[in-house]
Amino acid sequence: MTAFQYHNSSLRCEGVAISEVAEVVPTPFYLYSKAAIHANLDAISTAFGDVNPLICYALKANSNPHLLRLLSACGIGADVVSGGEIYLALENGFPADKIVFAGVGKTDAEIEYALSRNVYTLNVESLQEVGVIEEIARRLGQQARVGLRINPDIDVEGHPYISTGKASNKFGISLEEFDALVERLPSYSNIKVVGLHIHTGSMIDRSQPYLAAIECMRRLKHKLEAAGAKLDYVDIGGGLSVDYHAPLESPAERIHAIISPLAAELRRFDCRIIFEPGRSLVASAGILVTRVLYTKHTGDKHFVIADAGMSDLLRPSLYSAHHEILPVCPNDRPLRHVDVVGPVCESGDFLAKDRLLPEVERGDLLAVMTAGAYGFVLSSNYNSRPRPAEVLVNASDHKVIRERGTWSDLQREVTDSRENS
Ligand code: LLP
Repeated sequence: MTAFQYHNSSLRCEGVAISEVAEVVPTPFYLYSKAAIHANLDAISTAFGDVNPLICYALKANSNPHLLRLLSACGIGADVVSGGEIYLALENGFPADKIVFAGVGKTDAEIEYALSRNVYTLNVESLQEVGVIEEIARRLGQQARVGLRINPDIDVEGHPYISTGKASNKFGISLEEFDALVERLPSYSNIKVVGLHIHTGSMIDRSQPYLAAIECMRRLKHKLEAAGAKLDYVDIGGGLSVDYHAPLESPAERIHAIISPLAAELRRFDCRIIFEPGRSLVASAGILVTRVLYTKHTGDKHFVIADAGMSDLLRPSLYSAHHEILPVCPNDRPLRHVDVVGPVCESGDFLAKDRLLPEVERGDLLAVMTAGAYGFVLSSNYNSRPRPAEVLVNASDHKVIRERGTWSDLQREVTDSRENS
């Protein structure tokens, strides 16, 4: 069972008919299930068993402030990659001592902000960055807690744009650079290395890449400790995949199948374990609801032109990502192969290509499934289209948790020099 199910010929989220929400909230809009987010968090925590990691939600997947408050209230931490994400995490209830700050291009201002707000750790990504943090920490009269983000050269075999752990990716400290850094450790007086971090990539659908990363961390931890460091934590990153082809099935079983084999290995570490899930917490808990504007046939192609496009959900255009598309009110019309496209003036603007769907008509509602992660956060104002609203369902209630953008947002200009600071 998931939060999204058909009942009485209509797609529902928990106790709410999506068609009823669409009567009061103009499409397109994102809609999330509170129960599904809680269920995903539960499934992840249960799968780790007594390892009991500090789960740090990767804000980049979905940083709606309301959802952040919902997650911080569960007692978890936050994985952030910018000053903006530190700010959002702090504003929405994540305690500073549960915030881990990664990112390959931290600015001096962001480093200073992180140190002054006393976040738990900065996961550093290059030797040069270590030097910059040392300088800033010295200026602030602080000891900066840092973790070394390692690039383990592990291939998780996903889309090249979401691979992060190969030597050819820009992320992390290479194994050679790691050795140089260990030698230099005694020369840093305002830096304390307290952890190790790896994030090998996203959409990991088996245990093996995690096991390889854990093995690599074990070796590096020994090296660091031999050089006198005492580690507080080992952070295994995020990256747990979701099944975009099975939006009405509970993800709990596959989460368990991938994560539970890691427990025995993780238990052998004598320090805190951190896990940074983004997608697996929120993707299956959200959908994008769109209305059919037009249908048209050209040659042997059938187009369904929806009111949502790449400016609302970029993943299909950017990664050729698959999202199931379900009719909100199913019918028994014949099936047809269609391209579901958006209104944006780009041929690359599509939600699905050559998809078998029951024939749809102008006005029909479609649900683009598994859109709770990397959906709204990757939306844009391209073609001067306001960003979609976001709605949260809780049992039989729903409420708008972010208003749809407006045309006047598009007209916003600098009226005060402080706005650009
Ligand atoms: N930790 C770090 C350091 C990361 O870079 C990421 C994601 C995560 C955690 C969370 O990974 P997750 O559990 O969500 O896979 N926009 C792409 C995904 C990019 C992921 C970037 N890093 C997509 O829509 O598929």
